[in-house]
Amino acid sequence: MFVQWNRTLHIGIPKVDQEHQHLVAIVNAFHDVHRRGAGREKVFTALNLLMKYVEIHFQHEEALMEAGHYPALEDHRKEHEDLTRQIFDLYARCKRGQAQITDETMEFLKHWLVDHILGMDREIQRYFSCRGIPKGWEM
Ligand SMILES: [Fe+2]
Ligand SMILES: [Fe+2]
Repeated sequence: MFVQWNRTLHIGIPKVDQEHQHLVAIVNAFHDVHRRGAGREKVFTALNLLMKYVEIHFQHEEALMEAGHYPALEDHRKEHEDLTRQIFDLYARCKRGQAQITDETMEFLKHWLVDHILGMDREIQRYFSCRGIPKGWEM
């Protein structure tokens, strides 16, 4: 398995964990496509799926933070915007033939996902663990 789901990635908010697991599965499926040397079309499909799902996930997380008056929402939102831009840039560069999906790209994607979960996403859990998840927040 390219990205291994383990306890350290588990932040303890079930809906968020579920979505993170799905993101890990998408990156792993993408890695499979890359490793098998599948054609351009499959690579773009995999990248597209990741872009679409990460947007949905970021919206959900931001809605949770808004509902819970999370104090560092703006910083978190900025990092989401940065991460979104990075993946959109990668897609655009691949489309224009200026970049290719390499082992380094896959390593980049692994860190792109895991570092954010282990960093800013874990902070959300710390905040909500004593306050509880806001009522009515189930996307
Ligand atoms: Fe997240
Ligand atoms: Fe996040």
